[in-house]
Amino acid sequence: MNEHVRVNNVSTPTLPDAQTVTSVKHWTDRLFSFRVTRPASLRFRSGEFVMIGLMGDPDPKTGKQKPLLRAYSIASPAWDDELEFYSIKVQDGPLTSKLQHIQPGDQIILRPKPVGTLVHDALLPGKRLWFFATGTGIAPFASLIREPQTYEDYDEVILTHTCRDVAELEYGRQLVDSLKDDPLIGELVGDKLRYYPTTTREQSPRMGRITAKLRSGELFADLGVPPISPETDRAMVCGSMGLNTDLKEILEGFGLREGANSDPAEYVVEKAFVG
Ligand code: A2P
Repeated sequence: MNEHVRVNNVSTPTLPDAQTVTSVKHWTDRLFSFRVTRPASLRFRSGEFVMIGLMGDPDPKTGKQKPLLRAYSIASPAWDDELEFYSIKVQDGPLTSKLQHIQPGDQIILRPKPVGTLVHDALLPGKRLWFFATGTGIAPFASLIREPQTYEDYDEVILTHTCRDVAELEYGRQLVDSLKDDPLIGELVGDKLRYYPTTTREQSPRMGRITAKLRSGELFADLGVPPISPETDRAMVCGSMGLNTDLKEILEGFGLREGANSDPAEYVVEKAFVG
């Protein structure tokens, strides 16, 4: 596990919409990340997602294969030469049961039509930006914490990440740690980014669901910041359906309204890919 394999001479894609895998890293038996070549024409806003996948098994009758595609947040920033993705492995999941076996040099299908609501354009200007993630919901924020606009637009950026156990936090933890020394963005990040990891099923310095910590006010006390207010605070949420529903209610309780690309407001939500 944790093998980071890389190929330098990537082969030219042959399938339509095919991209070549350049590296794969397995974080736990449930989680892995990988990087692929980026289509020269692909432009996206940090936080958006694309459809990616593999060819499915041949139809037993016709022998024809159909692409098996799912929505995946792009975890790399808009300025990166490659694209990064962070995925769960579901043993009987139609796509991830296969995708988890990709190796450098393999090809995946990537439809180059980025979309999504976890973008700066969907929020009104504010002072403090919250990123609330559970599990693989950290992927869009892995992009946004590497996006210069995040630090140009806000005085303070707080990333919370809640996972079942400590090992599942590692992808986010290593990324946050690496930003301070990042030659491209380190200076811009400075002390603006704060990281608040919690676990729910394994002992760690901070335990519990983020929703409980928001309701009790423990989160604000721990960070030494005032409670969320619509005048100063903006939020982006990405996790399971349950997390998203609960956080919507909590954020609206603080007076924040849900925004969209066409109608920016104070918070935005998107479901993390599952399966
Ligand atoms: P819990 O262990 O209490 O269910 P998963 O791995 O199932 O995607 O979950 C990722 C993390 O999200 C877990 O720590 C889980 O906590 C937490 N979580 C799941 N549902 C909610 C919810 N409705 N509100 C807050 N946290 C949640």
